[in-house]
This record gives sequence, structure tokens and C-alpha cells, in this order.
Amino acid sequence: MIAIAIREPGGPDVLVPVDRPVPQPGPGEVLIRVVAAGVNRPDVLQRQGRYTPPPGVTDIPGLEVAGRVESVGSAVEGWSAGQPVCALLAGGGYAAYAVAPAPQCLPLPAGLDPLHAAGLPEVMFTVWTNVFERGRLAPGESLLVHGGSSGIGTAAIQLARARGARVFATAGSPEKCRACEALGAERGINYRDEDFVTVLKEVTDGRGVDVVLDMVGGDYMQRNIDVLAVEGRLVQIAQLGGYRSTISTIPILQRRLTITGSTLRPRTVEEKGRIAQAVHEHVWPLVERGAVRVLVHQAFDLRDAAEAHRVMESSLHIGKLMLRVES
Ligand SMILES: NC(=O)c1ccc[n+]([C@@H]2O[C@H](COP(=O)([O-])OP(=O)(O)OC[C@H]3O[C@@H](n4cnc5c(N)ncnc54)[C@H](OP(=O)(O)O)[C@@H]3O)[C@@H](O)[C@H]2O)c1
Repeated sequence: MIAIAIREPGGPDVLVPVDRPVPQPGPGEVLIRVVAAGVNRPDVLQRQGRYTPPPGVTDIPGLEVAGRVESVGSAVEGWSAGQPVCALLAGGGYAAYAVAPAPQCLPLPAGLDPLHAAGLPEVMFTVWTNVFERGRLAPGESLLVHGGSSGIGTAAIQLARARGARVFATAGSPEKCRACEALGAERGINYRDEDFVTVLKEVTDGRGVDVVLDMVGGDYMQRNIDVLAVEGRLVQIAQLGGYRSTISTIPILQRRLTITGSTLRPRTVEEKGRIAQAVHEHVWPLVERGAVRVLVHQAFDLRDAAEAHRVMESSLHIGKLMLRVES
């Protein structure tokens, strides 16, 4: 089969089409004939040699796919050849076939084509477990999403809005801020011109927000703490702006704040299966009634994965970048 390999750690050009054997599903696994795969920022980090796949996982990048079930391994119930499916993977999505643990497979939401469905698993699993489980965002509360125009950000804004929260988002251009507002953010904040703490203190009458979803870290850390309301929760999912920060811990005690975070990829199949069930129950109905959409910025042929990574690193995209694996 065709797959995209990382020839060596480096820039987008190290992504090269290769011939690989079709993987075989082991016990509890499903073999998927891939129609489309999502491109995610962790794939860029893996390509750069900064995010090693967990032990035993293929070196082919790609964390999410949609397509049809080709075959199933032993002890798989509920899936059979020919069924439409989308899945969260620990790797291997940039290929004509991919193997997924059955608990990480979900049916396509009614009415959604595979190109859009392939953009759901990584962002929806991540947003669900971080914003609603760890961050405990409740209806009527408020959420600040950093990187609002990212794949993760566009999902977080819509999901939080659809579940009755007030949403604010930061992004790096006026166009991205307007896009965040079109998705349901009450106010897009261009962090290049405005200080998000000042803006949010103004619009919340000094109260601050209940939850912050952050992928920047670094010098955002103190400001994230400053913008949280009493009993606020900061959920860290990446550190694009740096791993280290110096903070005052006093507000954590004074306002009884919670600082937490998580990564999805190294979690067990059992844990991912539990998140899959929650996403199926709570997110799929919102997608099916159009309250949450997959915003596809651009789709590329699988062979042009390097170009997709170039666009991702330009950060000019709004929403998801996708790979088409068969026409
Ligand atoms: N913890 C987890 O389980 C988990 C799972 C999936 C993804 N993630 C993380 O979530 C983040 C978003 O993922 P994605 O796939 O949605 O990526 P993406 O679409 O490429 O989004 C990254 C966004 O970050 C913003 N950004 C802010 N500061 C940045 C910086 N210093 N360098 C680069 N970008 C910066 C960019 O927007 P502006 O240009 O507007 O700043 C860009 O839109 C990534 O950091 C990814 O690693 C975490």
C-alpha cells in the first residue's frame, strides 16, 4: 500500500511516499481502508523528531482516519467489513490502510462524509476529555480558548457554545478572530494587538473566566492564572510558546484555582475507549444536527502530505487540514 514515511527528522520535505505492507488487524483490532486522514500539529512535532510514537506504534504518522472497515481481528464485536468508520489512532493514518483498536472506532455521524468525519477524532477526543472532563466546563460558565482558529480551537469553541457556555478565543489575526466569532465565540481577541487579560476582565466585569484551554504555555502561564475566576481551571494541552514559566502561586490559593493538563496519545486503549463512548454520546448528536461542524481549511492528496505540513507550519489555516487517500 502507499503510505507516507518520515525519511529522517526534519522539514516537510522528509515526508515521502513509500510502499509498505498492508497492516494486519490483531485481536481486538479493525483494519480500515482509509478514505481521508486528518493532519494534526503533533504530526509536525513527530516529523521534527520531537514527539516519538509510543512503544509498539508504527512510525507512519497520522492520528485519525475515516473510511470503511476492510476486516476485523479476533474478539471484535460490532464491526464488520464494509461499514463506514472513523477512528482515533496512535499512528499510521497517512496510509491507504490503517489498524485501529476497536474501542477507538466510531460510526460516521449521520450525514457526514468521510473527509469531514476524519477530522473529528483527534480534536473531539482531546477537547472532550480536557475541557469537559478535566476542566469540568458546565453550561452557563465561561471558556477562553487560546489558538481559537486551530483544529482544536475551532472544535472547542463550537462544542462549548453548543453546550451552553460563554466562549472567548484568542488568535493571531483579525481574520482569524472573525472566524472564531462566526463559530460562536463572543469575542475574538487578536493577541498581537490586545492583552487578553485586560479584554476579558472588561467584558466579565472583573470576574474572569471559569476555564482556560491553553496550547501556548510559556509567558501565557501567569496571564492564564490572572484571567481565571474564583474556582477557575486552567487546562494545558501543549506548550507551543515554551515549556518553562515563572509564576506567582499566590492566586492559586487565593482564588482556589486548579491547574491541570493531559496528552491523549500515550493513554491506554481502555481510556481512549471510554472517551470514545462519551464523545459518541455527547458530541455526535451535535454534529448530526449541525450545531458543531468540521471546518476543513484545505484537503490535499496523500502524496502531498509535505505541502499540508507547510501550510500547518505557516499557521495561516483556519480549522483542519486533511489528506485524501482515495478519490
Ligand atoms: N494534549 C493533547 O492531547 C493534544 C492533542 C492534540 C493536539 N494537541 C495540541 O493542540 C495544539 C493545536 O493542535 P492542532 O492540530 O489544532 O494545531 P494547529 O491547527 O496547527 O494550531 C496551532 C495554533 O496555535 C497557534 N499558536 C499560538 N502560538 C503559537 C506558536 N508559538 N507556534 C505555533 N502556533 C502557535 C496558531 O495560531 P495563531 O497563528 O493564531 O497564533 C495555530 O493556529 C497543538 O499544540 C497540539 O500539539 C494536544
